[in-house]
Amino acid sequence: MHSYAIAAVSFFLSTLHAYTLPPRQEDRACNNSPLICSKPYDTVTHLGAHDSPFLRDSSTKFSSFGNQYFNTSIQLSAGVRLLTTQVHASSNAKTGERELHVCHSSCALFDAGPLSKWLLEIRNWLDGNPNEVVTLVLVNMNGVDARELEGVYSQADIAHYGYIPFDSRPPPLSNQTKSSWPTLGKMIDDGSRLVSFVQPLRHDRENAPYLLDQFTFMYENPYDVTEPGNFTCLPDRPVKKSIAEMQESGRMFLMNHMLYWKQAFGIEVPDHRNIETTNAWEGEGALGKHMIQCGTVAKKQPTFVLVDFFNVGPAIASVDTFNKVHRPVGRLSVTGDVLEPGMGKKKASNAARARAGRTAVWTAIFSTIIVVLVL
Ligand SMILES: *[C@@H]1O[C@H](CO)[C@@H](O)[C@H](O)[C@H]1NC(C)=O
Ligand SMILES: *[C@@H]1O[C@H](CO)[C@@H](O)[C@H](O)[C@H]1NC(C)=O
Ligand SMILES: *[C@@H]1O[C@H](CO)[C@@H](O)[C@H](O)[C@H]1NC(C)=O
Repeated sequence: MHSYAIAAVSFFLSTLHAYTLPPRQEDRACNNSPLICSKPYDTVTHLGAHDSPFLRDSSTKFSSFGNQYFNTSIQLSAGVRLLTTQVHASSNAKTGERELHVCHSSCALFDAGPLSKWLLEIRNWLDGNPNEVVTLVLVNMNGVDARELEGVYSQADIAHYGYIPFDSRPPPLSNQTKSSWPTLGKMIDDGSRLVSFVQPLRHDRENAPYLLDQFTFMYENPYDVTEPGNFTCLPDRPVKKSIAEMQESGRMFLMNHMLYWKQAFGIEVPDHRNIETTNAWEGEGALGKHMIQCGTVAKKQPTFVLVDFFNVGPAIASVDTFNKVHRPVGRLSVTGDVLEPGMGKKKASNAARARAGRTAVWTAIFSTIIVVLVL
């Protein structure tokens, strides 16, 4: 307990120390802030929209399987920098030929269209936003090979943005004395602004060097959580080993923070009923609390955090806090409301929420330090 307390305190002191430093002057903003251009990719926390193309809006008749209220382009413009989806082998609606689609669980149930169309949407966004680094995680439901995926990347003309690491294994994690991943600024300078992970994938260095096997480069905590009190920071995939072992392997941490609602017949849907607390900074099962917990035990902020309904909470404010981003620039402001049919707009404006959020951040940081000190 004692070493845990010391680790927690030093983690927060380093956070606070950085808060007091004068901002480094950079002309441009990288991922919405000039303060993080000089940070290595693995040391930034990237906010992820879980199941990015699967919407719960009028286009899907508010499908209970939908994970986001806003589409991929809006997610990116609002500050999301990690997008996940499932990829299924399906067929072209007209020709019947084999075609990869982004579908939720099954293409018969929820088909959000061809993968090439979704990638094209992302490419268009990257074209229009030259100082942004975006990460994808494609869940490879039918185990298609790298060559077939490469074909679709080429179709969308997005492959040239692909970041190619030095090796097909991850480098050591960056630390205070040594950065192993390039900085966001370097990736932007090189035009290598799209990091693509596929789960699972046999790496094909010859034909698709930018398509990386997710669990060679990342570890994650359990994703299937149905009770707010059950979020953990323990490695679950690729193996249930210790955090230290995962870090020694160079794997970056992806923090799943999605709450599911169990329905009849074992079906689980995103729990939109509790989303305001799930994505909040503090409270039982809150995103901010979970990030502090995982940051403390790993002595390193999570590289990725994955949420449903990213606009609520708002989740982005928690990630800004971890990145020490004070005044993000170039972001589209979207409502922090839960958008259900027939629901009246809530009164709190985004700005008021953000102000309340910032106050809460400080209260939480200080109260955590105090709690930890008395343990
Ligand atoms: C995303 O949503 C916005 C707002 O509803 C809409 O204007 C835009 O066309 C959509 N983009 C795509 C690619 O569907
Ligand atoms: C930082 O990482 C390098 C390898 O990238 C390692 O040799 C060094 O010991 C690490 N330093 C600390 C303080 O962990
Ligand atoms: C939640 O955690 C509690 C305590 O560890 C455990 O007893 C319970 O089975 C968990 N619930 C689920 C749905 O996993």
